[in-house]
Amino acid sequence: MAYQTLTVEIDDYVALIRLNRPEALNALNSQLLGELGDALADADKNEKIRCIVLTGSEKAFAAGADIKEMATKSFVDVYTDDLFGAEIDRITATRKPIIAAVAGYALGGGCELAMACDFMLCADNAKFGQPEINLGVMAGIGGTQRLTRFVGKSKSMEMHLTGRFMDAAEAERSGLVSRVIPAAKLIPEALAAAKRIAEKSQIAIMAAKEAVNRAYETTLREGILFERRNFHALFATEDQKEGMAAFLEKREPQFRDR
Ligand code: HXC
Repeated sequence: MAYQTLTVEIDDYVALIRLNRPEALNALNSQLLGELGDALADADKNEKIRCIVLTGSEKAFAAGADIKEMATKSFVDVYTDDLFGAEIDRITATRKPIIAAVAGYALGGGCELAMACDFMLCADNAKFGQPEINLGVMAGIGGTQRLTRFVGKSKSMEMHLTGRFMDAAEAERSGLVSRVIPAAKLIPEALAAAKRIAEKSQIAIMAAKEAVNRAYETTLREGILFERRNFHALFATEDQKEGMAAFLEKREPQFRDR
């Protein structure tokens, strides 16, 4: 499908989705978030896609929700439309793994979008922040909850209340991103990680993704029970037999997602 605010390239079972509104540093407007939701829903259905990399430009992953689009809205407008609530829910409902590859600014809704992905790799020029407070508002698509879970209350509170940015080294140190990569290598590294994921049994990948996400949504006891049941269930798959047989026979596994 052709999109106006993003591009999608599919190669070797990996979809590379690039946000593409350079004139506004990839600010998230209704069209972009709608197209992103459509692209992710298509990716979930497409057998040629087994992992997704979401990125922006070298200067900005996304500089936040589009301030021009929001500026004149009233409480009734945003409450009635549940501004971007359904859109962010579509992103977290994606069943295939999404890696956020962040270079440059990931601010406000851009930081929230990156945090809604499954994990984040960032370039050494990345800058994260929740500067909505400078606009007289606050984070609105998960920032107060997700950033706090990633980096803890003190750092999250400071970022939300002062609007200060966090650089790549601090983001890695505090657990917001899994790795910092030299900017020129960000996309190749993200694609390589996605390729490694694409080679696994996709049933095990989905079950593991669901279980890790439970860590954010339930108690430890319930999460561990969920993990245990998913682990048990994987013994009903052919891929478990194949994976373990391949190890014992000292060969590469041939997973068939069954
Ligand atoms: C609309 C934006 C934008 C945004 C940048 N632009 N961010 N347009 N919405 N969030 C536009 C600028 O207006 C400008 O367009 C062009 O992109 C380049 O930006 P500059 O400011 O000239 O670039 P620079 O000086 O390099 O500064 C980069 C920046 C700054 C530090 C990232 O642009 C900035 O502070 N942006 C806003 C960041 C922010 O407050 N984000 C939170 C948004 S609220 P023109 O046409 O003038 O050249 C939010 C709420 C989430 O995200 C919850 C939603 C439900």
